[in-house]
Amino acid sequence: MWAGMSDRSLFSNLIAWYDNNRRILPWREDPTPFHVWLSEIMLQQTRVEAVRGYYERFLKAIPDIESLAAAEEETILKLWEGLGYYSRARNLRRAAQVIMEKYDGQMPDNAKELMEIPGIGPYTAAAIASISYGRKEAAVDGNLLRVFSRMTAYGEDIKRPETKKAAEQFFLQLMELPDSCDVDFSEQKDSHEQCRNIYGDFNQALMDLGATICLPNSEPHCGECPWSEHCRAHLCGEETSYPIMPEKKKRKTEEKTVLLIRYNNRYVVHRRPSEGLLAGLYEFPMADGTLTEEEALQEGERIGFSALRIRKAGEAKHIFTHKEWHMTGYEITADELAEAFDRPEKGEADPAYILADREEILSRYPMPSALEKYKKYVLSRIK
Ligand code: ADE
Repeated sequence: MWAGMSDRSLFSNLIAWYDNNRRILPWREDPTPFHVWLSEIMLQQTRVEAVRGYYERFLKAIPDIESLAAAEEETILKLWEGLGYYSRARNLRRAAQVIMEKYDGQMPDNAKELMEIPGIGPYTAAAIASISYGRKEAAVDGNLLRVFSRMTAYGEDIKRPETKKAAEQFFLQLMELPDSCDVDFSEQKDSHEQCRNIYGDFNQALMDLGATICLPNSEPHCGECPWSEHCRAHLCGEETSYPIMPEKKKRKTEEKTVLLIRYNNRYVVHRRPSEGLLAGLYEFPMADGTLTEEEALQEGERIGFSALRIRKAGEAKHIFTHKEWHMTGYEITADELAEAFDRPEKGEADPAYILADREEILSRYPMPSALEKYKKYVLSRIK
């Protein structure tokens, strides 16, 4: 199907390139199914450099599937704080519970069964099956799609499901072990004297190629690419015309007002609903729209505080995948006597709101990066 692409040296070229250029990454040191699973989930939509520290810190706190299944959701969200796409963390914990119940704590060793676990799609299943279990599976993510689309000068929109199928087929074809290959990879020993995991390495080599050489936009380093002589886009000098992307939709902008309600060296926080955007994370009370000082004071009253003072706490912007928040912050210093939180018998305070001290903001309540500026502001104001 991919005429000219059956060159049997493509596989060995790439493996040789990987041997000299592979990135040293913590999840590659001991690629157990749990390690690969965790790293692949963290790496979805997130750069390797951002993930490294999170991965190591997470594993120190949660070393295995059993401890993940037993952990509180809030603990997992706190370990995920700042990584974004928090449903990944919630699904990871739920999936660990399924693995404990249905699979006796062992991750299945094949892509088909892995895909039955909540939150594990075809890409993650193929990554675990190939990297941890040595299965011949193509783990096609955005990086591999880009490599594929340039190699074949693929003329269709990269986001179409058919493109992914074609890419899988393309890479699986290259994984058919070369019969006239100079090196018998299956006989090669790795540093642990085990037979080399060629399919896992092939997938990881492709991930590294996509992340360090076949870069998006106008930046591919074709001069260093082991596949440049076989790359149709490069041979036509058209590498930056691929992949073909769908037209970008414009993001919706939402105005928000953030209330930093201070009372007795603590600040009010609120848990977001368990469904929807940033589900289960904590936030400072927020209102839709840009409120005036007077409206912000009324909102504070509604929650249960009457104010001594109000002042501006700056503006902030946060970009999500499909929307942007444009935020205006106010700090409201609450009047101790009128405050209702410490006097629940009065029943004036909404119980969904909590007063958190510095330590709790730092280590207990997970907050989204969208509120980072206000969190910093608050931490600078309390001891
Ligand atoms: N990107 C996604 N998965 C990866 C992995 N296992 N190694 C490096 N980069 C990746």
